Amino acid sequence: MAKAIAIVGAQWGDEGKGKVVDYLAGSFDCSARYGGGHNAGHTVIINGQRFVLQLIPCGILRPGKKAIIGAGVVVDPAALVSELDSLKNGGVDVSGRLFVSNRAHLIFPFHRELEKSSEAARGPHRIGTTSRGIGPAYEDKMARRGLRVCDLVDAERFERKLQRDIEEKDAFSRAAYGSPLDTKGILEKYQELAERIRGYVTDTSALVNRALKQGESILFEGAQGTMLDIDHGTYPYVTSSSAISGGACTGLGFSPTLMTGVIGVTKAYTTRVGGGPFPTEMPDLDAQAVRDRGNEYGAVTGRPRRCGWLDLVMLQYAVQLNGVDSLVVTKLDVFDTQKEIQVCVGYRYKGSKLTEMPAEVEILAEVTPEYKTVAGWQKRTDHIREAQELPEAARDYLKFISDSLGVEIGMISTGPERDATIVPRGTKLAAWL
Ligand code: GDP
Ligand code: IMO
Ligand code: MG
Repeated sequence: MAKAIAIVGAQWGDEGKGKVVDYLAGSFDCSARYGGGHNAGHTVIINGQRFVLQLIPCGILRPGKKAIIGAGVVVDPAALVSELDSLKNGGVDVSGRLFVSNRAHLIFPFHRELEKSSEAARGPHRIGTTSRGIGPAYEDKMARRGLRVCDLVDAERFERKLQRDIEEKDAFSRAAYGSPLDTKGILEKYQELAERIRGYVTDTSALVNRALKQGESILFEGAQGTMLDIDHGTYPYVTSSSAISGGACTGLGFSPTLMTGVIGVTKAYTTRVGGGPFPTEMPDLDAQAVRDRGNEYGAVTGRPRRCGWLDLVMLQYAVQLNGVDSLVVTKLDVFDTQKEIQVCVGYRYKGSKLTEMPAEVEILAEVTPEYKTVAGWQKRTDHIREAQELPEAARDYLKFISDSLGVEIGMISTGPERDATIVPRGTKLAAWL
């Protein structure tokens, strides 16, 4: 069977999926995004050149490889065009290699406006979204009134549908928030954008299925993370799409029986951006130290990321939900100067041990993590390329993670650059390269 491997975030996003996809993409014919939109920020650094991809899969940075934006993605055409421009400026030619689903839903400026009003109305309970219009665009999709890429590229149909949509949204905004929407110039702007995008639009589900049938290999690039998944994350402090591996099948339109493996990505610690419970969150001073060393600031919004210890309860949940075959641990180098490392091995709630991830954020916010303390290695790891050359305490830390979860560690990342990567021999992941 053709290699069809999903890469998913096992935490709350920003695990380093971009770097991992970039590394692996050299061994695949194609990479494909299946969900989310330009709320994602995937950073890739190649020979000192930094790329932040939001909508286009990171595999595009590998010359000659195909990149697909599937039906499950919500596309802001302005964001897509600006990403195309910045790739061009960075010397990346996408012609003939980028494919955008005709079934993907569109994000409009009024989605961002509605999101702003909705977040303001929530006050202290706001989600802390990326303000990209993601939630409202998925709301329209699920309410069966969204406009799709196939509408955008048909001028007459687009004008008719947009007019109706604008009237509806404006009436809603006036009634719900007491403010009209600014919809001036949208039609003309989107007509211009349509011309820039038209050449990439196709039936990407047919493309994926054809490619797999012909034996081509595909990497499915997850956006966000398991705990931000709309169904299984820390609802309502989640995004609006299916971030887990199953989302690749629905978002791209292929059978689950065709997927041949799943890679979960986790940092050596945990971060989260935005609101919501975070059991292993560190006290301010420790968090700031990790934030400084790990440069933990959002790639999209620049917001400081909240930092905490690794949470094995959460990772076990992610391993189960995604069917993780192989785990990648990134940012090991960030702990190079750490004396002692804490790892959460269990949750207690009102004195009792929890055996499952609680559905209620109110409970998750009140659990007491049980920590195991392990020794740090206090040596540099960023130059190491072989697993056995890692300091003993670092190997012990990785082994403890792997043994606790019952999953192999297929890759270790010790720096943002492509080559700051260790792939231990004899793993499932190594066999996929
Ligand atoms: P993604 O959303 O999962 O693709 O992750 P982001 O790109 O948003 O955030 C990960 C950040 O960590 C980026 O700035 C990467 O360049 C950086 N990064 C990735 N792997 C490593 C690593 O092993 N060590 C260090 N120090 N930085 C890394
Ligand atoms: P990548 O792909 C980290 C978070 C937001 C907010 C919540 C909802 O780079 O890992 P949204 O704008 O999606 O409605 O916001 O989800 N969030 C992310 N956090 N990394 C991401 O993507 C995220 N995408 C959304 O901060 O808490
Ligand atoms: Mg990110």
